[in-house]
Amino acid sequence: MTNITIAIDGFSSTGKSTVAKLLAKALGYIYVDSGAMYRAVTFYAMQHNFIEENYLFEEALVKSLDDIFISFKHNEELGFSEVFLNNVNIEKEIRTLEVSNFVSTIAAIPEVRRKLVIQQQDMGKAKGVVMDGRDIGTVVFPYAELKIFMTASAETRAQRRFQELIDRGDEVHFEEVLDNVIKRDYIDSTREDSPLIQAEDAVLFNNSNFSIEEQFEKVLNLAKSIIKHKKSDTN
Ligand code: CDP
Ligand code: CDP
Repeated sequence: MTNITIAIDGFSSTGKSTVAKLLAKALGYIYVDSGAMYRAVTFYAMQHNFIEENYLFEEALVKSLDDIFISFKHNEELGFSEVFLNNVNIEKEIRTLEVSNFVSTIAAIPEVRRKLVIQQQDMGKAKGVVMDGRDIGTVVFPYAELKIFMTASAETRAQRRFQELIDRGDEVHFEEVLDNVIKRDYIDSTREDSPLIQAEDAVLFNNSNFSIEEQFEKVLNLAKSIIKHKKSDTN
């Protein structure tokens, strides 16, 4: 069996995780949502009052990093893995706009990144993994056989995320979701440690006008062609 590593990076709400999950299922690979890990640390910071009135007690959070244990467990019914913080399922709690409003600040802390990148590399060491995030093709798996970089207009992405939050029953306004998407794009792209940039060897997808199905088909075809070539190389 020829297994490869697939890195999917890009801006918020471009369809990374949806495509990554479908791809992992089609190829029999594991899927890792690296953003969920940064969201889990953010949720921990909120739970422990390290964030108060927009102020982050960064030193206190960094000192507590050894107390944070993040894991994933496959949910058969849903067909994908859910994220756990210190053995408690927090899959639903980490998707709120409140967590989204702080996550990029937390994700810019080098100590947080170091801890999570080590765990991500460990989860992908056997290959056969699809991981999505912001620095997967540049930092976590610089030698990934397939790297995808996804973009779409901020309005399209905010509309998608807004719909998702409304469907969950959250009370949000479109403008605050758009504001969050734009602010996160900025912080993620301009931070010093592992900024969101397209890897030189990544395939660019602007999917403002693609459906999920079209997006998935294109990425799956690319993956299959790389796997086929690798197979013939090793024969
Ligand atoms: O799903 P969405 O694109 O909204 O975000 P996410 O993938 O859940 O990631 C949440 C945040 O975590 C991002 O805005 C980044 O600040 C951070 N992140 C990161 O810095 N590096 C990663 N590999 C993944 C996420
Ligand atoms: O992981 P990321 O934040 O990049 O995006 P996602 O969670 O996969 O997708 C965000 C939302 O946009 C989901 O509700 C998707 O179904 C939707 N979406 C879409 O409608 N059309 C696309 N081409 C991509 C995503």
